Amino acid sequence: MQIHDYLAEQQQLIEQQLQHHFQHHYTENSVLNRAIKYSIFNGGKRIRPILCIAATECCGADEEHAFPSALAIELFHCSTLIHDDLPCMDDDDLRRGKPTCHIQFGEANAVLAGDALIIEAFKLIAQQKRSELALELAQAAGANGVIAGQVADLAAEHMTPSRELVDFIHYHKTAILIRASIRMGAIAAHADPTTIEALTSFGEKIGIAFQIQDDILDETASSEELGKPAGSDRAQSKMTYPAVYGMEASRKRVQSLTEEAIQHLHSVSLRPNPLEKLANYLVERKK
Ligand code: IPE
Ligand code: IPE
Ligand code: MG
Ligand code: MG
Ligand code: MG
Repeated sequence: MQIHDYLAEQQQLIEQQLQHHFQHHYTENSVLNRAIKYSIFNGGKRIRPILCIAATECCGADEEHAFPSALAIELFHCSTLIHDDLPCMDDDDLRRGKPTCHIQFGEANAVLAGDALIIEAFKLIAQQKRSELALELAQAAGANGVIAGQVADLAAEHMTPSRELVDFIHYHKTAILIRASIRMGAIAAHADPTTIEALTSFGEKIGIAFQIQDDILDETASSEELGKPAGSDRAQSKMTYPAVYGMEASRKRVQSLTEEAIQHLHSVSLRPNPLEKLANYLVERKK
C-alpha cells in the first residue's frame, strides 16, 4: 500500500476512535467542551497514534490493543500544542490552519482545556489497568520529559547557540513523546525486551529527526502549507537546529538519523510493517 493511502486510512481510524470517545463524554455545550473539541478535531497528522498502532501490529498483536494508548498520546499531544501556543510560551495565533485555542476561547480556557486533556489522557490509560503504560506516558510527558524540554526551549530564547542545549531541547520537547508512542505500542503487544529496545532506538531517532524537520519547515514552508505561522522560530530567536548547525547540516542530520533509525528496525524480526515507510514520509513531509 502507498504510504499516503495508509496514512489517510489510519487518520480516519483515529478520527473515528476519538469521535467515539468524545460522543459519550463531554456532551454538554460548555465553553470548556467546545475548546477541548476544537483543539482535537482540527486535522492533526496523528503521527504519534499512527506510530503507536503500527508498533503494536509489528509486534504481532491486533491494532485494538493499541487504541487506548494511541488516543491518550494524541490527547496529551494536543494539550502540549494548546499550551505551546499561549502568549506566555510561543505566542502563536494559528494552529492546524485555524486560530489557536486561546485566540478562540481566551487564555484561561485554553490553559484549562489543555489541563483537562492531560487528565483525560491518563484516564484513558487507567481504564486499561496496565500501570506500565501509565508510567511510560508519565515519564515521557512530565518534568523529566516534554515539560523539561518546553522549559529549556523557552529559557534558550536569545541564548548563544549551543549544540548541547539544542540536543537537550529537541530530545525532551519532541523525541521523547514519539519514542513513548512506539514503546507503548510495543508494550501493549507484550513485545520481548530486545524488540522493545530496537523500537525504542528507532523512535528516539525519528523523534529527533521530526523536530529538526519541524525547524526546517518553520523556515522554508509557508503558513498556508504549515497551518501554523511560518518564521515563528526566527521571530522569537528560538534555539533551533538550523540556528545552531545551519540549514544544510540540519537536512543531512534528518537524513542520517532516519537511516540509522531504519537500521534498528532491521536488527530485529518484526511482522511486515509500515514503520520504514513512515520514517521516510516524515523526512519528506511538507507540514
Ligand atoms: C507539532 O507536532 C509539534 C511538534 C512537536 C513539532 P505535529 O507536527 O505532529 O503537529 P500536528 O499534530 O500534525 O498538528
Ligand atoms: C513544540 O515545538 C513542542 C511541543 C509542543 C511539545 P514547537 O514550538 O516547535 O512546535 P510548533 O512548531 O509550534 O508546532
Ligand atoms: Mg514551542
Ligand atoms: Mg510552537
Ligand atoms: Mg516548530
